[in-house]
Amino acid sequence: MPPRQIILDTDPGIDDALAILLALASPEVELTAVTVTGGNCTLAEGVRNGLDVLALGDASHIPVAAGVALPLIRPPFTAPETHGATGLGYARLPTSPAKPSPKHAVDTLIDAIMAAPGEVTLAAVAPLTNLALAIRKEPRIVKAVRQVIIMGGAIRADGNVTPLAEFNVFVDPHAAHIVLHSGMPLILLPWDITSKILITQADVDRLLQAGGPIPRFIADATRFYIEFHQQHFGFDGCSINDPAALALAFQPDLAQLQTLFVDVEIASETTIGKTIGDFLGVTQRAPNVQLVVDFDNERFITLFIERMEALVRQIHGDAPAISSGNTSQ
Ligand code: BDR
Ligand code: CA
Repeated sequence: MPPRQIILDTDPGIDDALAILLALASPEVELTAVTVTGGNCTLAEGVRNGLDVLALGDASHIPVAAGVALPLIRPPFTAPETHGATGLGYARLPTSPAKPSPKHAVDTLIDAIMAAPGEVTLAAVAPLTNLALAIRKEPRIVKAVRQVIIMGGAIRADGNVTPLAEFNVFVDPHAAHIVLHSGMPLILLPWDITSKILITQADVDRLLQAGGPIPRFIADATRFYIEFHQQHFGFDGCSINDPAALALAFQPDLAQLQTLFVDVEIASETTIGKTIGDFLGVTQRAPNVQLVVDFDNERFITLFIERMEALVRQIHGDAPAISSGNTSQ
């Protein structure tokens, strides 16, 4: 079977960077484009990080398309305390000579989906601004996209930005509203689930044994992310939300799904960005998502580490150069 075409809509971001690397390490999928929006860091920083992470993974041929810098209505909201000053924690990557795509992210999404109806999977792991505008510009993508896997929302869990709201939905709740009400085939992987998908320092130490710049990058990026998760949430490790969403494009049996109507609060300042699941069917609204209600964390973490080790072998052979110091250069 030929690899499944996949686009990653992202705000790179530490776990976004890990999702890019997982896509490169996974023969079941072909990453055809990376589309970027503002979120964890600014749009410009996200585009830079996307290019540099692709170069790290020896994949500078994959286009990185800059999209929308700001949420539709809300003011910009970035997360330097979570992802570091420019988005990649303590990691400093060499600057890729590759240039961003001349095509806007919104048009990149539309053109790719319309060129291959029923074939393109979108992993949307950032505020949904690019996708919302793509739907408004070309509504036919709603029926033409194969599947959209969204990392976002806190349904029955506390939020990670406000007591109620998860980051990606909080940053652009109006975009999330457009996407949730669009009729697209959506899988929703919420923070309820991803908060428990933890990579620990022991996992990172195992990966470091593979040597070379990719494990070094992952160690430097996740050291910052682990510190944040420990200090803010008391977690033993960091939640790798976005790679888990990406993995569902090629290993859907990691997740158990429940068909559900999900809405998002866009009016109240106190509760804005809260995602609401109608588990009892009281709204009598037709389901609009397949919500991930369970996930095989252990199998996924093993898969992630093994794929990163395989990526190192793929790029550097069996004996990559051992890098020193605490940077990724
Ligand atoms: C989501 O928000 C971002 O900080 C992460 O990259 C992830 O996409 C988790 O709430
Ligand atoms: Ca993200």
